[in-house]
Amino acid sequence: MNSIEQTASFLKDKVNQAPEIGLILGSGLGILAEEIQNPIKVPYNEIPNFPVSTVAGHAGQLVFGTLEGKQVVAMQGRFHFYEGYSMEVVTFPVRVMKALGISQMIVTNAAGGVNEAYEAGNLMIIKDQINNMGQNPLIGPNDDSMGVRFPDMSTAYSERLRKLAREKATSLNIGIQEGVYVGNTGPAYETPAEVRMLRVMGADAVGMSTVPEVIVARHAGLEVLGISCISNMAAGILPQPLSHDEVIETTERVKSDFLSLVKAIVMD
Ligand code: 6GU
Repeated sequence: MNSIEQTASFLKDKVNQAPEIGLILGSGLGILAEEIQNPIKVPYNEIPNFPVSTVAGHAGQLVFGTLEGKQVVAMQGRFHFYEGYSMEVVTFPVRVMKALGISQMIVTNAAGGVNEAYEAGNLMIIKDQINNMGQNPLIGPNDDSMGVRFPDMSTAYSERLRKLAREKATSLNIGIQEGVYVGNTGPAYETPAEVRMLRVMGADAVGMSTVPEVIVARHAGLEVLGISCISNMAAGILPQPLSHDEVIETTERVKSDFLSLVKAIVMD
């Protein structure tokens, strides 16, 4: 048994229903896991082959249960490349959730606004992504039982789920942006010159996660929806410096919209 199967089998013994939807909850967005009914919480440090998350504001557990009538598994806290984990480790939970039975994945993050029309507090449906991490989680021998050697990325973010997300946002009266997310390694935020470069590249928002998980999710054949919370504007747009505290404060402010939107999407 490989490590993915081993971890999946450990988790299957803890829950009685297989999840359909996997949720990855970003910085300050872990509160969604508190909405899960009949939760079974499994701390990362109790899960075989899981590393332990290090960033403050990340609880570090899987939460299984029911959300809007659907069986879900949520990652409360994720593993970042900047923490020093390999791409394989960063994306291991996606492989495990796939092995547990999910067919859809909703990935969320806090991101900096690169598009000057954005404002801190906006929610953005991810339309597409740019891998600017200088790494790819699929480098190495390909296990053909998991996915193809050269996965297509032309529809990385499901058109169907994006449309559903737009419709739900409209009916809930939640303003929504739709744009391109660029994944940088961090942990330093970008310089103003780098932000101008990202804008020329076609990015609307920048963050330090999501890109590896979505590459692996697509390799695994999962249908993906991504939602960014624009927690702050990227460097050089506004006069003030960037701080992680602002990221947390903004996500706190928009959490009710974020919760209603994701719940409405999960419902359908
Ligand atoms: Cl401005 N940059 C990056 N790389 N990640 C972020 C961010 C900015 N704001 C929140 N997360």
